[in-house]
Amino acid sequence: MTAIPDTFRAYVAERLDDRVERGVRDFNEPDLPSGEVEIRVEWSSVNFKDGLATKFDGKVARLSPLIPGIDLAGQVVASEDASIPVGASVLVHGYDLGVARHGGYAEYQRVPAAWVVPLDGLTARDAMAIGTAGFTAAMSVVALEERGLTPADGPVLVTGASGGVGSTAVAILGERGYEVWAVTGKEDEIPRLRDLGATGFLTRDEVSVEGKPLESARWAGAVDAVGSAALPYVLRTLRTGATVASSGNASGPKLETTVLPFILRGVAMLGMDSVLVPIERRRQIWDRLAADLRPRSLGENVTELTLDTLEDGLDGIVAGAARGRWVVRIA
Ligand SMILES: NC(=O)c1ccc[n+]([C@@H]2O[C@H](COP(=O)([O-])OP(=O)(O)OC[C@H]3O[C@@H](n4cnc5c(N)ncnc54)[C@H](OP(=O)(O)O)[C@@H]3O)[C@@H](O)[C@H]2O)c1
Repeated sequence: MTAIPDTFRAYVAERLDDRVERGVRDFNEPDLPSGEVEIRVEWSSVNFKDGLATKFDGKVARLSPLIPGIDLAGQVVASEDASIPVGASVLVHGYDLGVARHGGYAEYQRVPAAWVVPLDGLTARDAMAIGTAGFTAAMSVVALEERGLTPADGPVLVTGASGGVGSTAVAILGERGYEVWAVTGKEDEIPRLRDLGATGFLTRDEVSVEGKPLESARWAGAVDAVGSAALPYVLRTLRTGATVASSGNASGPKLETTVLPFILRGVAMLGMDSVLVPIERRRQIWDRLAADLRPRSLGENVTELTLDTLEDGLDGIVAGAARGRWVVRIA
């Protein structure tokens, strides 16, 4: 028995020979995959990967037609799992959602129970203001602290600071008392980043120039979602024993560096993959996002979209125009 109506609205991306056809359609319930939990989606969000999932050369979508949306939050309307009751507020992200299985840009979705995160202490909108990007920022902070980083250790650098991962990292680190330095290519974002907790700023140009294999050791830790244009600088300026959490390739995937930061300063580079985080760890990090990892000013300064205006976000994020997070009001 399903609690999902026969048809509902969804934003669909369908790959044709020479383009991806995108737009809102009536979607038929039987075309959803099987799963133990049915959710009435209230909010979703726009991540870099969502933008790529709707582009012809994006190399992200593994299903066509696909309802994209790697994040969703809403209310359970049917469940075969006693630990996830009808009426519960939940979120889902990661695994195949919005990539190889229909995702969050739909009024209803059906998912495996093993992917569901109970929402405790966060509204559905706030959860999507965090979303996969903010979760990845939280994972990065957790990883740095698990390697011993504390606010007393010194300044922490965040690259791509105006974007989803970057701005949430600034807001989490700022709230936790770190001295946060932000790298941004958008000068007009500096006041917002200062409000989120950044106290020092570098321009993209300052970090993307070529440099010596080792430069002044400045950073006690770093969060990088930019990749090729920033990570070489980060590595050659980390302090002895410091770590960078590397999650993204907003500027490209190539990494040109030397081994000297690793062998002469003992720095570490930790890879962040939010997609395959086991569900127990995922739920723990979300619990902490509602508590001690709660980003400063959560839910403020987000841009609200709907299914009908979604394309502004999908195209904007791929064009590097992100300013914080886009949330999508579905219900
Ligand atoms: N590993 C994971 O599990 C995971 C999870 C989420 C995201 N990601 C990845 O992390 C990256 C960022 O995601 P996001 O959602 O934060 O994207 P986003 O909102 O678009 O933010 C990326 C930011 O990077 C900077 N940037 C963009 N293009 C650049 C360029 N050519 N050179 C230098 N800086 C550039 C911009 O910040 P400024 O203008 O402030 O410089 C931009 O706002 C993406 O590659 C995404 O795929 C990975």
